Amino acid sequence: MQTLSPLETAFEQREATGQALPLPSDLAHLYGRLAFPPAPVERPYIISNFVETLDGVAVAHADGKSLDISGGNEHDHMVMGLLRACVDAVIVGAGTLRDASEHRWTPDYIYPPLAAAYRQLRQQLDQAPQPLNVIVSSSGHVDLSLPLFHELAIRSVLITTVQGQARLQEQTLPPTLHLLVAGEQGPLQARAIVETLSRWQPCQRILIEGGPQLMGRFMAERLIDELFLTLAPQLAGRDANELRPGFVSQQLFLPAAPRWGELLSLKRAGSYLFLRYRFT
Ligand SMILES: NC(=O)c1ccc[n+]([C@@H]2O[C@H](COP(=O)([O-])OP(=O)(O)OC[C@H]3O[C@@H](n4cnc5c(N)ncnc54)[C@H](OP(=O)(O)O)[C@@H]3O)[C@@H](O)[C@H]2O)c1
Repeated sequence: MQTLSPLETAFEQREATGQALPLPSDLAHLYGRLAFPPAPVERPYIISNFVETLDGVAVAHADGKSLDISGGNEHDHMVMGLLRACVDAVIVGAGTLRDASEHRWTPDYIYPPLAAAYRQLRQQLDQAPQPLNVIVSSSGHVDLSLPLFHELAIRSVLITTVQGQARLQEQTLPPTLHLLVAGEQGPLQARAIVETLSRWQPCQRILIEGGPQLMGRFMAERLIDELFLTLAPQLAGRDANELRPGFVSQQLFLPAAPRWGELLSLKRAGSYLFLRYRFT
């Protein structure tokens, strides 16, 4: 952390982002000011975070393994940790869990050097020590022996269908896991996912960390308030054998339902860009 340089802020719409969060000094030094508008009355404020290559690739595989699009960039991990530290729940699709089966969606897991600062921020925000880790699956094909479900410090939630619940109940449910049913069959509506979660545990802010199928659904239902997008300065390429989607898949917006974002901030670390867009 000592050697990590602060992000350089090239542009910021200060007046558009609301009241600044009380960032501990390490985080304020590295990120600058961070503010969010209050949640709408009827639902939590929903942000999302992705990394893409310059040619728009968010998912690439080689030898059956998912490739790290950011190249393990430390600034990207620092920002991921910061966003996780600001929310009540991080939601991912089961595909993302299957591809990152060791992962835990907590601030300290993604960027351990700032664990103390992230915890301090959560305390200041009056939040639980770790965000809820929420996995969405229609099928219920989720391996409950994965480390995420056995970490006592993390409360995990699986949001699924009636059929998915039946399949999951064939395994022993870990004590830190809670099962919620948000529909008869998949894919579940993003709105149903949020409402089901919020009924069980009220949330002010939620972070969608992918993958592209889940994100596509949230975008299609206009439930993403903001996108934090890291642009990694590399080209991934595509060919007929590998589709390599961007951060949205299985949804079309253009031309019938175009989605335009408004740039809220632009930060830089070396050749990496950190973009923040609002979608209304
Ligand atoms: N570049 C980035 O920033 C980034 C971020 C996150 C993930 N990723 C990558 O994205 C890849 C996975 O992509 P993906 O599009 O398959 O991801 P995904 O959305 O995480 O997973 C798809 C699966 O999640 C469940 N799911 C998603 N939306 C659902 C809905 N509305 N209702 C019910 N279930 C839903 C389904 O699970 P069931 O099959 O169990 O029904 C579906 O098959 C991974 O390789 C990961 O590394 C990249």
